[in-house]
Amino acid sequence: MQSFSATELDRAAALLLNGGLVAFPTETVYGLGADASSASAVSRIFEVKGRPKGHPLIVHAASLESAMPLASEWSETARELAAAFWPGPLTLILPASPLALDEVTGGQRSVGIRVPGHPVALGLLQAFAKVGGSGWLAAPSANVFGAVSPTRAQDVVRSLGGRMGEGDAVIDGGASSVGLESTIVDCTVSPPRVLRPGGIPREAIDAVVRLADSEVAKRQSAPRVSGSLASHYAPRTPLKLMSQEEMHKCLAQLQSAPKRIAVWCLGDETDPQGRALIAQLNASANCELLLAPAQPDAYGQQLYARLNDWDQAGFDEIWLERPPEGLAWEAVLDRLGRASGG
Ligand code: TXA
Ligand code: MG
Repeated sequence: MQSFSATELDRAAALLLNGGLVAFPTETVYGLGADASSASAVSRIFEVKGRPKGHPLIVHAASLESAMPLASEWSETARELAAAFWPGPLTLILPASPLALDEVTGGQRSVGIRVPGHPVALGLLQAFAKVGGSGWLAAPSANVFGAVSPTRAQDVVRSLGGRMGEGDAVIDGGASSVGLESTIVDCTVSPPRVLRPGGIPREAIDAVVRLADSEVAKRQSAPRVSGSLASHYAPRTPLKLMSQEEMHKCLAQLQSAPKRIAVWCLGDETDPQGRALIAQLNASANCELLLAPAQPDAYGQQLYARLNDWDQAGFDEIWLERPPEGLAWEAVLDRLGRASGG
């Protein structure tokens, strides 16, 4: 596996033209890219990731115009969403054209398309078109299947370095600014539906195109059904989501145990109970405490980097204080639910 800087996009494009894999930064997470018009290049993504065949991949394009031929139909809804949020962390599911390969769509008649908002991702897509490539990159997150997604080049190297080959590369473009995957909106149904919460909040989408009537309101009040979530995006280290009270209890039980625990607390200094917990955690020889951002965007930006670092450091457990319910935290809560096994 070769390592490129963000200025070596022509070299990366040449590898893509040869059927190689190139891991590249996007504003959400790093993607493991292959020429979306080549069945053999795309099949290597599944091999390297250990991803089951038949799981569809998102196709990345440099612009709406270059993405157009991939879908057989662009509804008014799809055009409005693309105009509002591209380039950016939004994936649209659209009816597939014959140019969207079965290897990419998982044999479905729909295709997921995204124009990423990261300058290096856009530069790579443009460079790939310029050297005579399709300009389309099929790219899942650049991690071993089921593991925590990478938001930095070093996370990609750690996860996939041993699995990628001589003709493959990683481009280092710094830390992803969003840090959670794109929001996926299914535009093959009317009204459109959110399939995966992510970088664009549900309310922002609803303000552009009406989502299924009560969907936004319902999510605002209903508690999350975490039992229905598959385990995914999970660190190797056991992860527990806890209220402050639960953390107090577990801390008391820890006293004589030789465990090392990484703790991420929301750390509200204005709340006496929170202050007491932080003091107790700081005093515990078992715990290494970091304060988590109290804003969902900043929390989401840091989450995967924290989990990847803690996995690397070899803690026995990871404890996270459960963030508040509510739409602003929807994408974070979705990933936390999966990371903790539902
Ligand atoms: O932010 C992101 O979306 C990142 C970056 C690299 O762009 N990519 C990403 O890809 O998260 P991946 O493969 O880890 O997740 C893609 C998701 C899967 O849940 C897949 O089922 C869904 O997109 N998907 C792709 N095509 C689809 C389709 N035609 N119909 C329904 N779901 C689809
Ligand atoms: Mg993924």
